[in-house]
Amino acid sequence: MALDNQRILAAPNYEELTDKILLLPDNIANQIAAGEVIQRPASAVKELLENAIDANATEIKLIITDAGKSLIQVIDNGSGMSETDARMCFERHATSKIETIEDLFHIKTMGFRGEALASIAAVAQVELKTKRADDETGTFIEVENSVVKKQETIAAPNGTSIAMKNLFFNVPARRNFLKSNAAEMRHIVDEFTRVALAFPHIFFSLTANNQQIFHLEAGNMKQRILQLLGNNYNTKLVSVKEETDYMNIFGFVGKPETVKKTRGDQYFFVNNRFIKSAYLNHAVMSAYQEMITKDSFPMYALYIDLDPTVVDVNVHPTKQEIKFEDEKIIYAFVQAAVKHALAQFSISPTLDFELDASIQHLPAIEQPFTKEKETAAAATSIFKAFTEKHQAHFIEPSKRSELRHWKDFYESPELGVRSRESEENVQNSILNAQYSIEKTLHIQRDYQLSQLHNQYILAQTNTGFILIHQQAAHERIIYERLLEAAKGKPIAVQRSMFPVSIELAPADAAVLGELMNDLQQLGYLIEPFGKNTFVVQGTPADVTQGNEKQVLDTLLEQYKHFSTDIKFSKREKLVRSLAWQQSIKTGRQLGEKEMQALVNDLFQCATPNVSPDGNPTYLEFKKEQLEKMFQK
Ligand SMILES: Nc1ncnc2c1ncn2[C@@H]1O[C@H](COP(=O)(O)OP(=O)(O)OP(=O)(O)O)[C@@H](O)[C@H]1O
Ligand SMILES: [Mg+2]
Repeated sequence: MALDNQRILAAPNYEELTDKILLLPDNIANQIAAGEVIQRPASAVKELLENAIDANATEIKLIITDAGKSLIQVIDNGSGMSETDARMCFERHATSKIETIEDLFHIKTMGFRGEALASIAAVAQVELKTKRADDETGTFIEVENSVVKKQETIAAPNGTSIAMKNLFFNVPARRNFLKSNAAEMRHIVDEFTRVALAFPHIFFSLTANNQQIFHLEAGNMKQRILQLLGNNYNTKLVSVKEETDYMNIFGFVGKPETVKKTRGDQYFFVNNRFIKSAYLNHAVMSAYQEMITKDSFPMYALYIDLDPTVVDVNVHPTKQEIKFEDEKIIYAFVQAAVKHALAQFSISPTLDFELDASIQHLPAIEQPFTKEKETAAAATSIFKAFTEKHQAHFIEPSKRSELRHWKDFYESPELGVRSRESEENVQNSILNAQYSIEKTLHIQRDYQLSQLHNQYILAQTNTGFILIHQQAAHERIIYERLLEAAKGKPIAVQRSMFPVSIELAPADAAVLGELMNDLQQLGYLIEPFGKNTFVVQGTPADVTQGNEKQVLDTLLEQYKHFSTDIKFSKREKLVRSLAWQQSIKTGRQLGEKEMQALVNDLFQCATPNVSPDGNPTYLEFKKEQLEKMFQK
């Protein structure tokens, strides 16, 4: 593999009129290719797990140190490799999975590009141990920067172990770009979850920094979902199962009561491959119709099986995007299957049975599914209605960055993406503009405050009036109070008379464990109580008790989004989430006393004029402006 780098990299002499194009040496070519395949530790995890699956392993162990920055190791009991293959596997375009161009259209394995190990070997120090069941001895190979450093015959168990150390040791820009350990570990757990969900009959374990986080015995799909996503779903899953000649769909969707405020537990697998598809996601969401509110996300894990010839998985190096020969049929099928499942379990009395029945009769879900039926399906008005452009459900492929502001998950999309930088700019400009107002703003106490649209508070000032946004204002008040608490100012706590115990999914439990001390400072007394379970012993005195579970669930969801998207400190993330949660929401009617308290508290804040997100908390209207407008 090692070409003569010296010769190839010799600086070209442009004085001479010679040819200038050189073939890149393997290690450089591999490193370039690695840029696409291995973006972060989690991408390497995905590739190694998939290789173990392709090797027909029944037991796959993942070992991580330092969020994958120091070590990612996958040990499997699969087929193993011969001595020659063990050397070959690190070459680019080296694969045992396809031979001819024809094979590319019938892919049944997870890998086929022959790029993953070559990429990994270009950006890490790799140790491979492998042995086939029929061989007496195994092979050990050490590769670094695409160059084989060592090769030995060794005694080894059947199967393969690949350890990659010091990822991106030779690509400092990449290494520095990696996020915090918590964020990278989160990505790793996500990839692990996706792979483990797709193969419930395989044993998986995940050990991070010598602690076993997951130990997933082989089982059925429902067991696997509960192992990974938490026992809370136990009685809350609805089974989906439809079979036709064209495609099968099976899996589970959550009952409407399982909805979350962020799209956490949503999984699509096509021929066992986890895929991202906004289009199919829409099909599921639309099947829930008015059973759930617009801004909530049901759990689903749906497995679609169809002829590999009608899907193209070779759209992107990470294979998470795929192209269907006929996406609309899949959309109709997914939507109908989920509707059918939800209706059968008569989850909701509000389900529109008439529409549902008409969907049921779509040829797309009748069997057997033939070409004629496909054409017939496409001709029906219902089908047309949900596949045509400009229909409410039609979605253009999203071009928006995935890094959305966390509030987008909770509030109207118009809020849009706002980077921290621009947030600070907004904050500063508002601060400056209002600096002068501060000095003159004088609320006239003897006038009654009034509430408009259960959203704003109208207050008269000596120079005009202000319109206070009740939620934004209250967020600001709580935010400052919590920041003080986080800095050490004690916060009044009420002990729970009936402490609530809360069971979390393993990954969430790990996050909460990390946050317990900080939460205590913010008034939440939480204690660990056995595996993945916690007891809430107390809450802040001014917060109504009873929905501790929901508060923590939301907190964890938001925290997770923060931790991958935005570089706020841990404390800032918690304080923002709690301020938002505890605030009086838009739509709540307020009494005179509440309004008084809110206005008083707001103007005692250090920065009363902006919410923690940088949006204004109130707008001021001056008499002169009004007079001008009335042309007086
Ligand atoms: N855990 C393993 N057990 C047995 N053979 C393996 C294992 N990992 C890799 N191999 C062999 O090494 C080859 C190269 O692996 P690599 O991941 O680079 O490519 P691939 O899986 O064929 O395609 P892709 O790049 O799409 O993943 C595989 O085709 C397979 O023959
Ligand atoms: Mg592979």
